[in-house]
Amino acid sequence: MTATANQLRQRAEACGQGQIFAHWDQLSETSRGQLLGQVDALDFEFIAELGVLLTRSASEAAPSTFEPPELFPLARDAACERRALEARGVGTEIMAAGEVGFVLVAGGQASRLGYDGPKGAFPVGPVSRRTLFDFHARRIRAARERHGVSMPWYIMTSPANDAVTRAFFVENDYFGLPAEDVTFFSQEMLPALDLEGRILMAAKDALFLAPNGHGGVLAALASSGCLAAARERGVKRLSYFQVDNPLVRPADELFLGLHALAGARMSSKVVAKRDPGEKVGVIGRADGTLGCIEYSDLPEDLRQARDADGRLLFGAGNIAVHIIDTDFVEELTRDGLNLGWHVARKNMQVVNAAGESAETAGAKFEAFVFDALAKSPESVTLEVARSEEFSPVKNAEGEDSPASARRDLCTLFSAWASEAGLDLPAPDSAGIEVVEVDPLLAESAAAFCEVAPEAPHASELGHLYDAP
Ligand code: UD1
Repeated sequence: MTATANQLRQRAEACGQGQIFAHWDQLSETSRGQLLGQVDALDFEFIAELGVLLTRSASEAAPSTFEPPELFPLARDAACERRALEARGVGTEIMAAGEVGFVLVAGGQASRLGYDGPKGAFPVGPVSRRTLFDFHARRIRAARERHGVSMPWYIMTSPANDAVTRAFFVENDYFGLPAEDVTFFSQEMLPALDLEGRILMAAKDALFLAPNGHGGVLAALASSGCLAAARERGVKRLSYFQVDNPLVRPADELFLGLHALAGARMSSKVVAKRDPGEKVGVIGRADGTLGCIEYSDLPEDLRQARDADGRLLFGAGNIAVHIIDTDFVEELTRDGLNLGWHVARKNMQVVNAAGESAETAGAKFEAFVFDALAKSPESVTLEVARSEEFSPVKNAEGEDSPASARRDLCTLFSAWASEAGLDLPAPDSAGIEVVEVDPLLAESAAAFCEVAPEAPHASELGHLYDAP
């Protein structure tokens, strides 16, 4: 064993992590090098802190008081309408000044969807078969054209999907965006632990590493240099969104303007929860702190509670769309990311002490981006229409699946076509009138009515209205 290897092994053993070297004698030189590289990058003190989290029971961490957030509602009275009008103006100025950048989190593993590839490469266009990445790129291109400025797009991958995501953008010529305005950066990985706090092994020569959660985006923006680059080009606000939602509107002048007028540093978009049982997190205050309250944390009586208008009291369903100020990210990451860690206990496929492949109970650790809401003194919670802005692809079947997203896209776009007085195609076997509108052509019913071509590109799949 070399001196460095010896030191690393002793350090691991002193920290109760000697099992990492259990198979050392059987490893080739290359494998030894790989393992040492991973061990060298470990912060054992930090791992010990994560281990301490495992000794806390879930009930110890559970909050006890809950309050709904103050909403900027979808149904607006005259005062709200005036505020919205003013906000749209402010948001437009901010965008036209080139002060907005986009941040997409796409580091997840798409395991629920069961898709073998980066989730953004999943085709969702009902007629065009365009991918999620393509939909997002088109909305960003539309915003750039609308405001006549360049806007950077920062895309967070994970080490597992980074290379294939980059290659997918190259193959697709960056979906029409200038390559220099699209930057990829990878999130950090954390070791998974067994329930006694020992690092698990994925192979004899590899630690079991897992992405550190979408909250890792803040630290990775800083460490990758993206944050500094954004500031350098005058970007003051970051529009954050998730890869899985083809209806997401990341370039929303109203949202930006409301955020800026309120002096907020981080804001959120929400949709009304469908029913008390819908398993989405809700934006609200837990023990006085603003954040996203997990479905399982909200007591049943509060899940069911309604206000005087019959709406769910805790109904501000989090769609994971935020505006985050650039200097806020800088502050949050100056002394290391300090959002707290969520523990996900799961069974994991590991290599055990005997060198055999085995399933074992363990824990992964994730930071959640919405935990940063707690540190934003002001925050806007803007309610938007689910039918227009939220239909994620998460599961292989049922709700939040490719089928439900296809249905929701077609329902929205066929409503636009009807409003524009256009003919709809005959319903398909599932009763869906298959219509798709290119986001580059229009992003709202009103805009579509102004620009709609008289005839769509009609194919056996349905009607497609594309930008010229
Ligand atoms: C998330 C929110 C939930 C919200 C819902 C809206 C959490 C815990 N919950 O649920 O409140 O109602 O979205 O769609 O977040 N990602 C990374 N790196 C990671 C983990 C995730 O980049 O380490 C990305 C994924 O690629 C994806 C997004 O974060 O774009 C969401 O991750 P996911 O685990 O699918 O969140 P949900 O459980 O669906």
